Amino acid sequence: MKRREFIIQTGTIISASVLFPGTILAGSKSAQTLVGSRRPNPDNYPQPIMKAISMGMNAPNPHNSQAWKFKILSDFEALLYLDESRLLHATDPPGRQIHIGCGCFLETLRLGASTLGYTAKYELLPEGEYPLEEAGLKPVAFVKVAASATEPLPLSDSIFSRQTNRSLYEGELMTNSEFDSITALTTAKYSELSFHSAPERLKEMVDILYEGMVVEANTHVTYDESRIWFRSSQKKIETKRDGINLRTDGTKGLLLSIMEFIVNEENEESWHKPTAINAFLKSYGKKIYTAKGIVLFKTQSNTMSDWILTGIDYVRFQLAADQLGYVIHPVSQVLQEYPEMDDLRARFNGLVGVSEPSKIQMGVRIGRGEKLYYSYRREPENLLI
Ligand SMILES: Cc1cc2nc3c(=O)[nH]c(=O)nc-3n(C[C@H](O)[C@H](O)[C@H](O)COP(=O)(O)O)c2cc1C
Repeated sequence: MKRREFIIQTGTIISASVLFPGTILAGSKSAQTLVGSRRPNPDNYPQPIMKAISMGMNAPNPHNSQAWKFKILSDFEALLYLDESRLLHATDPPGRQIHIGCGCFLETLRLGASTLGYTAKYELLPEGEYPLEEAGLKPVAFVKVAASATEPLPLSDSIFSRQTNRSLYEGELMTNSEFDSITALTTAKYSELSFHSAPERLKEMVDILYEGMVVEANTHVTYDESRIWFRSSQKKIETKRDGINLRTDGTKGLLLSIMEFIVNEENEESWHKPTAINAFLKSYGKKIYTAKGIVLFKTQSNTMSDWILTGIDYVRFQLAADQLGYVIHPVSQVLQEYPEMDDLRARFNGLVGVSEPSKIQMGVRIGRGEKLYYSYRREPENLLI
């Protein structure tokens, strides 16, 4: 991206080097230049562990609920817990995806710490796996950082440019060799990745992924979760610094103004009106069918460790894709474990040849697309136990 000033949809003029610093200042060690106003600034914290946590906060995570909290043990050590008040009970009953988000957090922290001159290590589930009722009480990981003369680790310069892209994708279908060029930058350590872009196969998969969204949108409790995490104006986005919104979907210009005027997440009844659901599905379908390939992340078993480890693989894959100019978008609906999705999930598993205890942990569409509105994160000092 060129270093130039541009106007984001609010009318604020902001330097591109601030908004997407990683793309422009790749390799720079200056934390000051690595953060924009939407993300925590590691320079605000004297303690190395808080600097590292600030970097971890940039991780992708389900619904941008940032379901993380921290117990600081010393200037160099902390425990990561799930924030049990931010779980996604309807779309994620086992807590699987929220733990994938923890894996994303830990690996982003490790890579991010290296850009600040620290080596970070994490130990997963120091008190073992736990039932979801104990989320927030039992730690997800122990994290330790140490000052060292380390160089920024590979992939770390994409931490600030990586973003989930839910918009239209452009150009040709991706080839196997393009996919291989991404995995050459990061070999998945814990999950098996498969790539699908043969036209008939791709259509078959996108059809069922789209159907997954139809089920989610027509199931009150799951679609209501989107409402709860939806932020329908710049003011709400800025104040809450979490959740999902139309801007990160690629909606802009006049349509954005109209949509933000119409959509009211505080009105449950209007959110679930068939006309509103159909309008959403139409727009979603238009975007998802521009997929230039599908990538699946599969594990042989389906334990809490598998979930966290898949998150590590997932964020590394996204960072690698970003380095080569590709964008990705998780399309998680058919993988989710609630009764209304059971039949479709079984059909999807049949289509991709997966049976229990193996599990497709993540399914993402991949392609090329423009940079979109940049998502926010909360400040880590508000997330301490
Ligand atoms: C486990 C997991 C599942 C996700 N599933 C979806 C999904 O089904 N649809 C979607 O649009 N985004 C999904 N996301 C992306 C998050 O919504 C996104 O990471 C978050 O909003 C923050 O935005 P960013 O990635 O651009 O920083 C998922 C992310 C993770 C880690």
